[in-house]
Amino acid sequence: MGEVVRAAVLGASGYAGGELVRLLATHPSIEVVALGGHGSAGRTLAEVHPHLAGLAAADLPLDPIDGDPPAVDLAFTALPHGASARVVPGLLDAGIRVVDLGGDFRLPAEDYPTWYGFEHPAPERLHEAVYGLPELFGDRIGGAALVANPGCYPTPTVLGLAPLLAAGLIEPESVRVDGKTGLSGAGRGASEALSFSASEDSVRPYRAPGHQHTPEMERGLELATGRRVPILFVPHLVPAVRGVVTTAYARLAGGASTEDLTSCLRAAYEGRPFVRVLEAGAMVDAKRTRGSNVVELQAIADARTATAVVVGALDNLVKGAAGQAIQNANLALGLPEATGLPTAGVYP
Ligand SMILES: NC(=O)c1ccc[n+]([C@@H]2O[C@H](COP(=O)([O-])OP(=O)(O)OC[C@H]3O[C@@H](n4cnc5c(N)ncnc54)[C@H](OP(=O)(O)O)[C@@H]3O)[C@@H](O)[C@H]2O)c1
Repeated sequence: MGEVVRAAVLGASGYAGGELVRLLATHPSIEVVALGGHGSAGRTLAEVHPHLAGLAAADLPLDPIDGDPPAVDLAFTALPHGASARVVPGLLDAGIRVVDLGGDFRLPAEDYPTWYGFEHPAPERLHEAVYGLPELFGDRIGGAALVANPGCYPTPTVLGLAPLLAAGLIEPESVRVDGKTGLSGAGRGASEALSFSASEDSVRPYRAPGHQHTPEMERGLELATGRRVPILFVPHLVPAVRGVVTTAYARLAGGASTEDLTSCLRAAYEGRPFVRVLEAGAMVDAKRTRGSNVVELQAIADARTATAVVVGALDNLVKGAAGQAIQNANLALGLPEATGLPTAGVYP
């Protein structure tokens, strides 16, 4: 084993940041030596995340995120939209490799006012970012100084659709995506709309058709296939804690069967440790992916309506956030991509 890389987690008090620290605790080549928080600066990790008491990092204090860059080689930024874009340039200038878990480096500058509601504060740094979907763009991530970790909805959507579009099995003009997420997808900040009272026994759409993951799905598919793929995306909040399921509908091009779609996905992800393509007829289940870095994919061809249905499921805090960020850090550092990452889920 080579040297151990010193790492910081900025946003360690949040859900994604806490999950990063938990997963990195067993990573053989990355050690968390610095933490950053905003309102919780000055408190220790164990104070803000009592479930992490006992880890080597438990007594580390959270430093203010807007202070001097930490003395590390690698930083994970798990901050609200807009905050990363202000912090990341200083980290890069200090020679720190960055994996950003938010959306601040995933899109072209002109998209931020429309989809995120702010002018990007560092548009000149956007070209430095590699879009970190390892199963499709892994060859671009090695050595990258800045990796934009994909969103939880775009990850299963782009992984499911890209091989089928590239093989000409579905039509690019016809894609509709339905998403479902548990409440942890919204982060730790409480609001009445996300409370138990408002969410228990409720399933409701939100932010349609303007959800910020829409242009990211389109961009990811364009990067993967070279084709413009307009997407209508409708996300829903469901009364669960973890888990994302995306269901994409597209017009079948030609007479592809379920077996044809499934074979195409299997060939695309053969040997990849974190993509589980289910056999024809089997159905994905977000619950099986809980705590693991696995995304489950399934494809259905409905000949009666000439429609392909491509379903994906993952744990939003692992393959949808912290786990994929570690996968990206592994690749950027030249380590095997699966280093320190779980493939087995927590069940029930
Ligand atoms: N939750 C998910 O499933 C998920 C999935 C994929 C990507 N992400 C992305 O990961 C990032 C973090 O999400 P999260 O769910 O972990 O959010 P969260 O639980 O709300 O945590 C946010 C973190 O950012 C810090 N913070 C809050 N306001 C800040 C500010 N103005 N400036 C700097 N830091 C500030 C918080 O610090 P204090 O607590 O100390 O104030 C906390 O550490 C977001 O960009 C999100 O889109 C989340």
